[in-house]
Amino acid sequence: MQRTQLITTADLTREEVDFFIKEAEALRGKKTDDLKGLTCASLFFEPSTRTRLSFESAALNLGASLITVANASSTSMKKGETLTDTIRVIEKYADILFMRHPKEGAAAEAIRETKKPFLNAGDGANQHPTQALLDMYTIQREMGTIDGLTIGFVGDMKFGRTVHSILYLLRHYKVKKIIFITPGQLKIPNNYLKMLEDAGIEYLEDSELNKYVPEMDILYMTRIQQERFENLEEYYFLKGSYILTSDVVRLGKPEMKVMHPLPRIDEITAEVDGMPNAAYYREAENGVYMRMALLKTLAKNYYK
Ligand code: NCD
Repeated sequence: MQRTQLITTADLTREEVDFFIKEAEALRGKKTDDLKGLTCASLFFEPSTRTRLSFESAALNLGASLITVANASSTSMKKGETLTDTIRVIEKYADILFMRHPKEGAAAEAIRETKKPFLNAGDGANQHPTQALLDMYTIQREMGTIDGLTIGFVGDMKFGRTVHSILYLLRHYKVKKIIFITPGQLKIPNNYLKMLEDAGIEYLEDSELNKYVPEMDILYMTRIQQERFENLEEYYFLKGSYILTSDVVRLGKPEMKVMHPLPRIDEITAEVDGMPNAAYYREAENGVYMRMALLKTLAKNYYK
């Protein structure tokens, strides 16, 4: 694999996904010096807790040094500097870059200015490829397989970039069925359904959750993406559309796992946290190991 940059899951192959899952598992709990002598620029122009800190933790676990932008308003972008100029300069300060940005397409724009290892840590409602990979790793770890599963995605499929990203990866596997549970206003964009059809993966869309929980192996909850709404009234109307309680989890198979990229607002009640089905904190931990795998591999391919 020659990959040095990760912008979208659309161009990842099954071989690459399987490789990164294996590598994440191999790096689990380890501290290495694979990135010793290299500096990572951690660029977050949009709020983040897990993605930024797990990326930074991953970089430190591999022995890298770090420079960080944790807040767009602390940079010259606030003064009106373009993303192009920002990247042209920062790529001179660092050997590896990862960036979150509120604009769709920002990561693709950034790599026009740098050939160095670069990872998209989320660009608007578009893509969040490292989350998709850590979610695949979590499914593999929790269920022992990805093939043959029925996976339910619940909540905001219109703006939820983590779902958009993972669908491109699931199409490479023999997934049994994908179930999208959304309010009518937050349906998954048609291009993703077309992609599943092309891949021969069965899917269905509905707005009722309880009816479908019994057939799910994975129940993937999402947050209604408040920051992407033009009309906040609409957000407040849709907020609370789905609340996963322990009673709803009990409708499912005992081995069903509940995932969530987090942050959770009100869509999973706290009583679910203690159930063996709740995999979301393990999912967040897996982010460190998957990001170690990605940083190590992309850096190795570039700095041979
Ligand atoms: C997700 C994101 O930023 O898209 N969070 C994350 O990276 N763990 C999901 C969300 O914000 O709802």
